[in-house]
Amino acid sequence: MLASGLNGITLRVNGRDHELAVAANVTLLEALRENLGLTGTKEGCGHGDCGACIVLMDGHAVNACLVLAVDASGRDIVTIEGLAEGGQLHPLQQAFLDKGAVQCGFCSSGMMLSAKALLDANPDADAELIRRELSGVLCRCGTYPRVIEAVLSVENGINRSGGEG
Ligand code: FES
Ligand code: FES
Repeated sequence: MLASGLNGITLRVNGRDHELAVAANVTLLEALRENLGLTGTKEGCGHGDCGACIVLMDGHAVNACLVLAVDASGRDIVTIEGLAEGGQLHPLQQAFLDKGAVQCGFCSSGMMLSAKALLDANPDADAELIRRELSGVLCRCGTYPRVIEAVLSVENGINRSGGEG
């Protein structure tokens, strides 16, 4: 603990280390949005029900509103801002655009990062498994069928080259 009463932590986000001083009760979601300005991670419910805040931690999808920033110190965090590489959208991002799976966009980062965790572990997931694994992300715009279609299209390689969709 620092003299200020805050905790010194190192947040590794999208491949970059950030030294922060945070109170013990600051969530990873708050640290990402307020300390680092990474506002692509959304706050919906703030208590684990909506999935809008999902990020990857060591490759697993977690609700950033339920993780304390101090517990995320030294872990490998990926947010939606870290998905694109070299100016190229990630295949999931491209597929969501091509399939019209983004409407207001509030759930989209949670959907895409949950889908990434799933596909990294299970590249051949069927529609039922995709539906189940993404069930922790609520979409008020009702994009669910298009989200499933988008994820399946990535599996099928339609969007792997930046995609015609
Ligand atoms: S804001 Fe984290 S689950 Fe809703
Ligand atoms: S696109 Fe609006 S909440 Fe999902």
